[in-house]
Amino acid sequence: MLIRTLPFFFALSAFGAGYPAGFQDVRPVLEARCVACHQPGGVAPMPLTNYREVRPWASAIKEAVVARTMPPWHAAKGSAHAFRNDRSLTQAEVDAVVKWVDAGSPEGGAVAVDVRPAADNRWQLGKPDVVIQVPGLKVPKSGVQPYNFLISTLHIEHDTWVRAAEFRIDQTQVVHHMNAFVREPGSSYLADFPHDQIFVPSVTERGKKRAGEAVFARRQLLLGYEPGYVPMPWLEGGAKLIKAGSDIVFEMHFNPNGKEAVDHSELGLYFAPEPPRQRVLAIDTLRDLDLVIPPQDPNCVSKASMTLGSPAKLLSIQPHMHVRGKGMEVRATYPDGRREVLLSVPKYDFNWQTTYVLKEPVDLPKGTVLDSTAWFNNSPNNAFNPDPAATVHWGDQTTDEMHIAFLELVIGRDANPETLFVAAPKMPQPK
Ligand code: HEC
Repeated sequence: MLIRTLPFFFALSAFGAGYPAGFQDVRPVLEARCVACHQPGGVAPMPLTNYREVRPWASAIKEAVVARTMPPWHAAKGSAHAFRNDRSLTQAEVDAVVKWVDAGSPEGGAVAVDVRPAADNRWQLGKPDVVIQVPGLKVPKSGVQPYNFLISTLHIEHDTWVRAAEFRIDQTQVVHHMNAFVREPGSSYLADFPHDQIFVPSVTERGKKRAGEAVFARRQLLLGYEPGYVPMPWLEGGAKLIKAGSDIVFEMHFNPNGKEAVDHSELGLYFAPEPPRQRVLAIDTLRDLDLVIPPQDPNCVSKASMTLGSPAKLLSIQPHMHVRGKGMEVRATYPDGRREVLLSVPKYDFNWQTTYVLKEPVDLPKGTVLDSTAWFNNSPNNAFNPDPAATVHWGDQTTDEMHIAFLELVIGRDANPETLFVAAPKMPQPK
């Protein structure tokens, strides 16, 4: 009894105003920062939507928020520009959690309703204008999975602006990532493959490109899903363009987790009511295709850079490496010589492929140089390293490596996106 009373008095004095501590003190934090993932069917292993669910986890929660391992967010504080989807807790939120747990995690007088009614896992952005279903793919119990592809016929008869898209992922526990590309009519991208059935092309087949073919006419990334993904419209007054007769190409990677599963994910599209002022484009050309990571190297450095041939605004950055990835920094050098760190991820975590969305898109004048540095740990001290004796090159599988900073750029609606590239981007080559 004494043990129960002590924290209660502690809580009383801590609040001064004299109301007893209770679940209501941490509920807003859980609601704003945790339940998006910690809900039934979410990516996190346990739901945290009501007192009953939270109570057994109280000390683990305190530990995770104090160490800032939860919510997962890997950007260093103090980069030049703030991020719209910054999940990290404010100090006041951390303090509220610590105070409640130290008070013995009491229920208090709060009404015992869930933080959020059990989600039906439906569309977070509302009812889409079009839903594209991915036909169920059977994911085995275990084993390394290749990238699976699917070409979906979109019956879009005139050029259409899409203001948002949302992935509704079915088997969140096994979907490692899913990308949806727009492929214009006449594109060489996977041109030899049939529609509406899943296939596994080789790297050569995936890289096939007609000489002189425009980058964005070949394919454009519409939307990517990765753990921790939060659907968001790209920006007010901005949209992506799907030209008449285009297909959607899905690239899917699954990580089996011990149970067989059949995935029935869906992609929802939201049309813009009118042509937007600005066009949003994704590029994957800030990358180092020639990276070579020597055996045992604990700190291999890889660099990439590109110069913008026409002005754009930067909307988001997603650093991408595999399990030897240690950290990445992305910078801009402006034509006036000013240099800025746009994103610094000092402790990269392969399990969290976060897209860092800028609060305010950053102006990149023509001639801006974007560059990135990636650090890799190929030593036995990297607990995730599958083989420290290997010389590691660019490749798909997590035993290979990548160094890409995916960027989303904003250009004028009628601007020619091809002028963004000063030189035609290099393509990945088969090993
Ligand atoms: C973006 C998704 C996401 C958000 C947001 C999130 N979590 Fe998690 N959480 C996970 C996943 C996935 C795991 C299991 C894998 C892991 O530990 O990384 C996890 C694990 C945990 C664990 C167990 C960790 C351990 O030490 O084993 C705790 C405790 C936890 N989360 C608390 C929280 C709290 C509290 C919040 C909000 C303040 C939160 N999480 C926000 C996804 C999330």
